Amino acid sequence: MGNIIIRNAAQVVTCSGFSGKRGGEMSDLQVIDNGTVIVTGGIISHILQQGEPIPVDEQDYTVIHAEGKALLPGFVDPHTHFIFGGYREEEFSWRMRGDSYMEIMQRGGGIVHTTRATREATEEELLASGRERLDTMMQLGITTVEGKSGYGLDRETELKQLRVMRQLNETHAMDVVPTFMGAHATPAGWEGREDAFIDFNIREMFPLVAQEKLAESVDIFCEKGVFTIEQSRRYLMAAREHGFQLKMHADEIVTLGGAELAAALRCLSADHLLQASDAGIRAMAEAGVVATLLPLTAFTLREPYARGRAMIDAGCIVAMATDLNPGSSFTASVPLLFALACIYMQLTPEEAVTAFTINSAAAINRAGSIGSIDVGKQGDLLLLKFPSYKFLPYHVGMNIVETVIKRGKVVI
Ligand code: NIG
Ligand code: FE
Repeated sequence: MGNIIIRNAAQVVTCSGFSGKRGGEMSDLQVIDNGTVIVTGGIISHILQQGEPIPVDEQDYTVIHAEGKALLPGFVDPHTHFIFGGYREEEFSWRMRGDSYMEIMQRGGGIVHTTRATREATEEELLASGRERLDTMMQLGITTVEGKSGYGLDRETELKQLRVMRQLNETHAMDVVPTFMGAHATPAGWEGREDAFIDFNIREMFPLVAQEKLAESVDIFCEKGVFTIEQSRRYLMAAREHGFQLKMHADEIVTLGGAELAAALRCLSADHLLQASDAGIRAMAEAGVVATLLPLTAFTLREPYARGRAMIDAGCIVAMATDLNPGSSFTASVPLLFALACIYMQLTPEEAVTAFTINSAAAINRAGSIGSIDVGKQGDLLLLKFPSYKFLPYHVGMNIVETVIKRGKVVI
């Protein structure tokens, strides 16, 4: 728990707020020019305007002089699958040749391929690769990451993935927020028995995961050829009975009504949404479901981008995430994420910053404690090499994060 003073940042981009921001609210970043931020005992204690005297004893603090640099809240990545065994580099070539993501999945590649490799991996191997990925993400300014299970699809391996995330949360500076995704695909041996596999998750897995407090949310891949709307509804309603927050991979490839279901169930978030209908978008705005957009996935799969502009104009709470996984988005590139969000989803730089800070915190139910520079929040901050947040999408593909501070301590 560190004590730190960041003095005279060219911009303090506060993103101030304690809940997700919808529609027009996403444009207001509440920037303080030439401001100073003080973190005491790991918690933000003071936000000072230019010229205000420092009200603490500087001898007890690390002091960073931030002239010419923009200070932002640490980034929050609310959708990843960063614990996995093996890789799928062949599938990239197949897709470039014209095979689709779903075709590859249906012939036993895709998620099922990674499931085989993840079952074979030892806990130590998953810890080591997971730790390395967290190191990379932190260099890119991410200070909290959500991670999903779903490459086990059996009791032992699902629990293994969740326990690895728990251990990483305890031993790495990154905060790791775990999600149980037992219904990510139908594993070998269950083909054609999707309803029974959903029952297995409801009867055996939910109680175990809840009892060991191994996850906060439950997620499902609701998609044509994977799990239906009805299966998703049954699975998510049962998850709620166990106290989990609800998340969905919704309307990614086909317009199935996933956004509408997420709204009807008051899910915490619905993610992907490339093919969400107008009615689904309106329903999510009304229900306050966070729409989490994953432009790196649309880019990788050469699919049309989600209609981010329309969602914000409809009053949605829009967040964005990397979706880091070995298939559809093998990248944690925050710089590319910002560029794609602005260039192809028509978000403004201000909206993109909101989408990856306070709104992505809202997507994992953490808007009260992270995602903005407000007194009382965790001291998770980053400094850019440049004087404005506007460089984030503009300096395409370049990491411009210079310093990362976690709970008041410099970690990068
Ligand atoms: O969010 N769409 C489903 N799940 C993941 C991909 C997982 C994988 O391909 O390994 C996603 O894109
Ligand atoms: Fe995903």
